[in-house]
Amino acid sequence: MAETVDLRVADLHPAVDDPALNSMNFLNEVAQHYPDAVSLAAGRPYEEFFDVGALHRHLERFRRHLADDLGQSPAQVHRTLLQYGRTKGIVHHLVARNLAVDEQLTVDPEAIVVTVGCQEAMFLVLRALRADPRDVLLAVAPTYVGLTGAARLLDLPVRPVRGGPAGIDLSDLREQVRLARAAGLRPRACYVMPDFANPSGTSIGLADRRRLLDLAAEEDLLLLEDNPYGLFPAAEPGRPPTQSGRPPTLKALDTARRVVYLGSFAKTVLPGARVGYVVADQRVAGADGTVGLLADQLAKIKSMVTVNTSPIAQAVVGGALLEHGCSLVAATVRERAAYGRNLRHLVDGLARRFPAGTSPVRWNVPAGGFFVVVTVPFGVDDALLHRSARGYGLLWTPMAHFYDDGAPVDALRLSVSAVTPEQIDLGLDRLAALVADETARRAANAEVG
Ligand SMILES: Cc1ncc(COP(=O)(O)O)c(C=O)c1O
Repeated sequence: MAETVDLRVADLHPAVDDPALNSMNFLNEVAQHYPDAVSLAAGRPYEEFFDVGALHRHLERFRRHLADDLGQSPAQVHRTLLQYGRTKGIVHHLVARNLAVDEQLTVDPEAIVVTVGCQEAMFLVLRALRADPRDVLLAVAPTYVGLTGAARLLDLPVRPVRGGPAGIDLSDLREQVRLARAAGLRPRACYVMPDFANPSGTSIGLADRRRLLDLAAEEDLLLLEDNPYGLFPAAEPGRPPTQSGRPPTLKALDTARRVVYLGSFAKTVLPGARVGYVVADQRVAGADGTVGLLADQLAKIKSMVTVNTSPIAQAVVGGALLEHGCSLVAATVRERAAYGRNLRHLVDGLARRFPAGTSPVRWNVPAGGFFVVVTVPFGVDDALLHRSARGYGLLWTPMAHFYDDGAPVDALRLSVSAVTPEQIDLGLDRLAALVADETARRAANAEVG
């Protein structure tokens, strides 16, 4: 007898059945299924850095800040920490100080909305921008699946812009704007990750950052700059990691409020706090002629999505910021050293196992961040990931997940953030075995065919 059902997926919003929304679940399920596999898939921070004891210290530090620096009475402190609170957040002034200290970026704290992770920030911005069925979003491909998924939920089509080794192909961006407009569409913004992008690992150089801003001005386009990995440049071998040489963010170069800046504390402080933010200093004219900030429009949307970001979580992040004079560069010395060491270890390990000249395997060498893209001489799909997990004890992410068109891709993403150098060695040995076997298997199939 057929099982009775109450609802059908087909009757729900189409996004719930979209590959973009299934991607994270699928990858998590594979990881749960093979708990003993080496995971070069997870783009999570290294868990040995987590410290429950620090939570109490940060909370107490922020409590003292409210009382001593902001002059709040004990009753006000209780209310700030434990009651429903300000929609735009309670650590906005510390976020502004952090951006001034680490990014030389002067931001009006009122232009900041503190969000439940960067993910909510993306959702709020896309919700606000998507005003008309003709609206589309441009995004450098391959792109972060959380962006694509949020856009899907908002019925906002994402049109890819070529990324390439320079991080963005500016002539393709201009062409995509032209094509979209010629088709009667309204490109509302272009989403970019100028520093150590997820998944590509690429960065945009200073000259191209300036050209991108010029192009955005010429085309009257907003830029959504997402920067969760910017504080993790990998040092030169044998030299301590520094922040020098890191180009300014797009937002720091932006003199015309073209850039909406998306920030995350997940990789720098704590992912479990779920705190991120958006800087939205764009001026928005109302029907009555009044002019306000885009941040205030986003806050209205936020009040109907998450009401406000947990003040307890914000207090933890606020305390962590205060402990280091609001510098996350200072707060993440240990993380930067470990992630940089791992990135170099991975790239060196790839070079040893897949020597240039004899192996068709290729990879890029990012200047920092968590990710490296490895290109192999065969298609990489979810079935191969299952074979890799089951037969070789190795997890990675098929690059096809980061493209929107479902076309086969012959590349995979490796992540260095959640592993030790020893696990990287083991993982790369297993990758070398997988590549050798897969190449032989396909050659044998071709012969039979
Ligand atoms: C490019 C990018 N943006 C945003 C996020 C989400 O950040 P959050 O955890 O603050 O929501 C991630 C997380 O991996 C990411 O890689």
